[in-house]
Amino acid sequence: MAKGRTRLGDRNVRHDHFHDRAKDQGFRARAVFKLEEIDKAVGLFRPGDRVCDLGCAPGSWLQYARGRIGERGAMVGIDRVAIPGVPGARLLVGDVFTVVPADLLGTLDHFDVVMSDMAPDTTGVRHMDQSRSEALFERALELACATLAPGGRFVGKIFQGPDFQKLIAACRARFATVKVMKPASSRQISIEQYITAAGFRGVTPGAP
Ligand SMILES: C[S@@+](CC[C@H](N)C(=O)[O-])C[C@H]1O[C@@H](n2cnc3c(N)ncnc32)[C@H](O)[C@@H]1O
Repeated sequence: MAKGRTRLGDRNVRHDHFHDRAKDQGFRARAVFKLEEIDKAVGLFRPGDRVCDLGCAPGSWLQYARGRIGERGAMVGIDRVAIPGVPGARLLVGDVFTVVPADLLGTLDHFDVVMSDMAPDTTGVRHMDQSRSEALFERALELACATLAPGGRFVGKIFQGPDFQKLIAACRARFATVKVMKPASSRQISIEQYITAAGFRGVTPGAP
């Protein structure tokens, strides 16, 4: 087996610089560096924030968020797969297409940040993967709009496809500022991008 590769089931998982750094720093996934870069660019978190993480497994975004919001903050994470506990997080096992906002909120009134790193099970058929990713992004945006406090922040992963501009327009209708980012730690070969949005305006009747 080539150096830097580990066999995991029938897939090869590339062990790169970011993977090793995440492991050294006690994070569960290299994805943590994407969130760190987004946070540094747009100022995603404040101490005491209430945070919702859609598609939270294995948990590195929750680990990072905990460090930024501190013990006064609150976090909820949901994924189709169960993960070991993360300090400060309430974890749900479920599908975002069936969960209702009240289940995510629990005893909280609102979230300050909703984030989604969700990705579909990829098929290799580009248009199918793009449309599944866009559906996950659209659902994340819908849940964000149902649970965010005014002024709240949102970040969601998306594989850019035919509905990309429509989804950006939907974000612009609901948030004061919207940016598209491709973090340096995102593999260049990956078609993923992150849409960040801040200054939630509340739901506007008739918005796209
Ligand atoms: C790239 S991983 C998230 C990594 C995470 N941000 C971290 O740092 O540990 C994407 C996750 O999205 C989850 N996911 C995909 N579709 C989902 C759905 N419909 N409902 C809930 N979770 C979903 C997958 O199970 C997977 O764990």
